[in-house]
Amino acid sequence: MSRILITSALPYINGIKHLGNLAGSMLPADVYARFQRGRGREVLYICATDEHGTPAELAAAAAGQDVMTYCQEQHVLQHDIGRAFGLSWDWFGRSSSPQNHKLTQHFADVLEDRGLIEERLDKMIYSIDDKRFLPDRYVEGTCPICNYEKARGDQCDNCGSLLDPIDLKNPYSVISGSRNLEVRETRHLYLLQTRMAERIRAWVDGHADWPHLARSIAYKHLDEGLIDRGITRDLAWGVPVTRNGLPRPGFEDKVFYVWFDAPVEYIAATREWADAQPDRDWERWWRTDKGASDVRYVEFMGKDNVAFHTVSFPATLLGSEEPWKTVDMLKAFNWLNWYGGKFSTSQKRGVFMDAALDILPADYWRWYLTSNAPEGSDTAFTWEQFASAINRDLADVLGNFVNRILKFCESRFDGVVPEGGEPGELERKLYDEVGARLAELTTQMETIELRKSAQALRALWVLGNEYLQEAAPWTAIKTDRDRAAVIVRTGLNLVALFARISAPFIPFTAEKIAEAVGDAYPAAWPELEGEAALSILAPGQPVRAPEVLFKKIEETQIAEWGERFGGAE
Ligand code: 2FM
Ligand code: ZN
Repeated sequence: MSRILITSALPYINGIKHLGNLAGSMLPADVYARFQRGRGREVLYICATDEHGTPAELAAAAAGQDVMTYCQEQHVLQHDIGRAFGLSWDWFGRSSSPQNHKLTQHFADVLEDRGLIEERLDKMIYSIDDKRFLPDRYVEGTCPICNYEKARGDQCDNCGSLLDPIDLKNPYSVISGSRNLEVRETRHLYLLQTRMAERIRAWVDGHADWPHLARSIAYKHLDEGLIDRGITRDLAWGVPVTRNGLPRPGFEDKVFYVWFDAPVEYIAATREWADAQPDRDWERWWRTDKGASDVRYVEFMGKDNVAFHTVSFPATLLGSEEPWKTVDMLKAFNWLNWYGGKFSTSQKRGVFMDAALDILPADYWRWYLTSNAPEGSDTAFTWEQFASAINRDLADVLGNFVNRILKFCESRFDGVVPEGGEPGELERKLYDEVGARLAELTTQMETIELRKSAQALRALWVLGNEYLQEAAPWTAIKTDRDRAAVIVRTGLNLVALFARISAPFIPFTAEKIAEAVGDAYPAAWPELEGEAALSILAPGQPVRAPEVLFKKIEETQIAEWGERFGGAE
């Protein structure tokens, strides 16, 4: 497969995301996208803000803004902070785009034409004082399961149960606080997933190569039995409910449910991308009748999103009976926790993307979050672990190596890749080891094993230090200049190699390193054979030591940040 379509779960518009959001979708997708571009594949990495639903309306109200202005501003903020983290999206769209309105309405039409959508009479909470229905998070009350008093209409934050607003005890309106509520009947559209259960199961069965986490969640939902799902809500902000291009009678005050339109935005955002420039074609990425059969489609997301991507979104795509591309590989992540508890936006616990960049450069975070990715299980962020990953891996191993060899080259070989001498025993051993490790790294990257990839990468950095230690150019230079030249040339090629293979993880530093040895950036992923991988730089090429690549994290900083960001609950 030479073309790869990558999407990461779309971040909600309601504020800057925390590191847990970044670690479980956007960052791993970026690492993979950069790797595949290096491998010479045509990559399209698509993301967008998820702008509809009650969270958006409530956040806008809390900010004292109308929802459209709020979304516009927050979209720009999220875009800019993502770029500052090095997220190399080919397009960062908006689920509120006209393209998404049109496509979402199209899907609703064809699904209804296929007999998979029907109108049903529903019981919903109506607020007499607010003169409106209160969907999802617009109503709070006491959880019928655990008696937590501030449970939201759609979910209890205390016990995690998914709720229906009408099940809450002592409900009140989030808008006015009014308890003057009643249950009223109103019509909503339902997607008849029950009719598609066998089809979706067969489709999941066909993806035996998905990682365990994704498959197990998909089967859990299939085994529990799919339910028909309400896909409209009583809200003003969202995709209007139409039928064949006209407002749907009785649905004038309703919009499609956010989880119906959000995944459609993966496709619509690709249209946004295509509409922005004449030579771009979105259909060759998404329509199997227009070339998308050649595309490998890889999705990244946290585990709470898996059901929507293995059941609901496929129900939309498959149910349409149109030739849409569906996901080939679904990479799901567990939670990155904040000490023992969860990151919390409302309680301001944990580090958010903007604050993170305030205190340290993006690559520090990128390295920690990928080398400790919550792949096999939930993981907990702690400052101690963070500091040790940075100090040990980045400062002591990578930074130190690059610095040592470049300084030595500057002082003893005038800052030029030296000529002369022939590789000896030590170099041949190095070629073998580098070749083996590179093959390992490449395999782990292809299979999107983030932690194992980071380990393999680190092992290569370690090889550099070991080689230098053993070859000891500072001794060789005293008696045998040619031998020292071989060692320095080999060391500088290790530096160039490290820039290339580290780029997916720490792109900003990789660029500095590439620049230091005069290599192109971004450059191709290296040859996998050791000697070829270490023949990047031509003798005579000027090089120069970069400024310090990584500053060690001090105890005092850990103490300060612990104070500033709060620790355990
Ligand atoms: O869980 C979330 O953050 C959602 N905004 C993810 C949406 S993914 C896609 F389907 F749009
Ligand atoms: Zn509860």
